[in-house]
Amino acid sequence: MSMPPTRPARKAVIPVAGMGTRFLPATKAVPKELLPVVDRPALQYIVEEAARAGLPEVLMVTGRGKAAIEDFFDRTPELETALEKKGDEGRLSAVHESTDVAQVHFVRQGEARGLGHAVLQAAAFVGDEPFAVLLGDDLIDARDHLLEQMLAVQAEHGGSVIALLDVGRENIDKYGAVAVEPTGDGSDVVAVTGLVEKPPVDEAPSSLAIIGRYVLAPEVFDVLRETAPGRGGEIQLTDALATLVERGEPVHGVVFGGRRYDTGDKLDYLKAVIRLASERDDLGPSLRGWLRDFVTELPAEGASPS
Ligand code: UTP
Repeated sequence: MSMPPTRPARKAVIPVAGMGTRFLPATKAVPKELLPVVDRPALQYIVEEAARAGLPEVLMVTGRGKAAIEDFFDRTPELETALEKKGDEGRLSAVHESTDVAQVHFVRQGEARGLGHAVLQAAAFVGDEPFAVLLGDDLIDARDHLLEQMLAVQAEHGGSVIALLDVGRENIDKYGAVAVEPTGDGSDVVAVTGLVEKPPVDEAPSSLAIIGRYVLAPEVFDVLRETAPGRGGEIQLTDALATLVERGEPVHGVVFGGRRYDTGDKLDYLKAVIRLASERDDLGPSLRGWLRDFVTELPAEGASPS
């Protein structure tokens, strides 16, 4: 059994090598993680979240067709010089923010063989310490401190911690699902006793779904090396976590009650853009006014728009 760590997690791994088929054709040439949420790629919010949580060293697991991600986190001297000459301080600092937020490293997955396989590519970077995994298309509102709470739970209990969301039984077959037991740490911290990837609705152990934040013990790498392809022929992180649970390693869940958007899903992506834009000081007032008018003019469900 792993003991509570002497060192807290310091590194973040962001897998971004998936194919993004749900967002085709946009994702034929643009990685879904770079689709703009208002004026910043979804991925920038996620790197900022890692940095805010005290994880300034970030490894992105990329793959074919994802070179634009490396470009995005690189410096752009020509652009910066042009903005400097124009005296456009606002845009210059926006450009700097995107590169200065964290130390970003890259490794390639080679072949998209699943999330578990993507995480395994981070073994050398992570070494023998706990680490965070943030999915590159899963956006958590900056006002909700999910990752910080997960890091605190991991520091207290050791082992691994996963983020959970109650998605309702009817939706659980799209997610990894968990069986849980209460702990003495409040109703949002649970002990995970079993995990299964995308179960049929009537076989799911609960309506609690795994969402895109993990704090993992380094033991997960050895398990991933031995994990055979599972659901969809992919090496599943959920299966590796299930093995850790079977071996008696502590796996806790933090049940999230805040705002989360799956930006790889078209409807959720639109909601994220509208919600975040409507809350911004620069865009919010005009957008909110327009939205109110737009909503009152909307035809009733079933009627065709004019
Ligand atoms: P998803 O299942 O959301 O990614 O994986 P996907 O395959 O890109 O999406 P769709 O379903 O085809 O639209 C969750 C995360 O794991 C990464 C993805 O980039 C995403 O951040 N991933 C997935 C990898 O890095 N490698 C893989 O082999 C699979």
